[in-house]
Amino acid sequence: MSQSPPRISKAVIPAAGLGTRFLPATKATPKEMLPVVDKPAIQYVVEEAVSAGLDDVLMVTGRNKRPLEDHFDRNYELESALEKKGDAERLVKVQESSDLATMHYVRQGDPRGLGHAVLCAAPHVGHEPFAVLLGDDLIDPRDPLLQRMIEVQETYGGSVVALMEVAPEQVHLYGCAAVEATQDSDVVQVTGLVEKPSPAEAPSHYAVIGRYVLDPHIFAILRETEPGRGGEIQLTDALQKLAEAHSTAATAAGGVGGPVHGVVFKGRRYDTGDRGDYLRAIVRLACEREDLGPDFRAWLKRYVAEEM
Ligand code: G1P
Repeated sequence: MSQSPPRISKAVIPAAGLGTRFLPATKATPKEMLPVVDKPAIQYVVEEAVSAGLDDVLMVTGRNKRPLEDHFDRNYELESALEKKGDAERLVKVQESSDLATMHYVRQGDPRGLGHAVLCAAPHVGHEPFAVLLGDDLIDPRDPLLQRMIEVQETYGGSVVALMEVAPEQVHLYGCAAVEATQDSDVVQVTGLVEKPSPAEAPSHYAVIGRYVLDPHIFAILRETEPGRGGEIQLTDALQKLAEAHSTAATAAGGVGGPVHGVVFKGRRYDTGDRGDYLRAIVRLACEREDLGPDFRAWLKRYVAEEM
């Protein structure tokens, strides 16, 4: 009797980065804890994983990242103080983050790159496909991406990356994919990948944004992946090996680890690791909030009209 493959249930969130772009705010506070309106950026990412059905979340952390663990844990002192005051609304907000998902943590130790961070998840993930969500990318909850990537992984097998068309002068900030069309209009086959290419090296304008659904065979490849761009072990380089193996006719049929596909995302995404985009995310999300939006929008209109 054939068994259907296990449903993807695990999300890995690398969160060991130093956050140097936000110094001095990140001197003693992890960048993932910076608020986007009134929630830390990382909570949006965990909520995204949970709404795609992944409620087992492994965070790959490092030194000075204890506040992340505390944020997703109970805070009995605060809860009882709010209870005593009868502040039910804030109590719910405090409990929300600890009730979200089953959280696990592993430390990266040496910061040897994104590929190395993902490799730290191997013992936890085991032999099932899993998702990777990068904390700097905030995907608007109204434009679901991860759910679609999981569907595509279930249909095509192998690994799936999220792609977005970017301006040519932006390509050097991302992993960049060479692609071929498939029968699905939002899905492409990835035939090659280059990490942060120069304009001359870039195979397209399709940038890899921080969402991945990966076949567990990626771990074996990562173990053999030499440091690449920036002297770091790059996830892009490991995926390139899979993409290349599956796009040549000789190995296309049934190679280990499966092909690499891309879901082309056209929704709203903010790079909260970039100060300008971080501010844009806050303004946009604040404008759209039911509680804060009406007042804030009115002020913003006046501010733009009168003071800019
Ligand atoms: C990482 C990846 C890169 C990807 C980007 C998306 O780079 O290495 O391929 O395009 O995330 O945000 P980082 O931005 O961490 O340097």
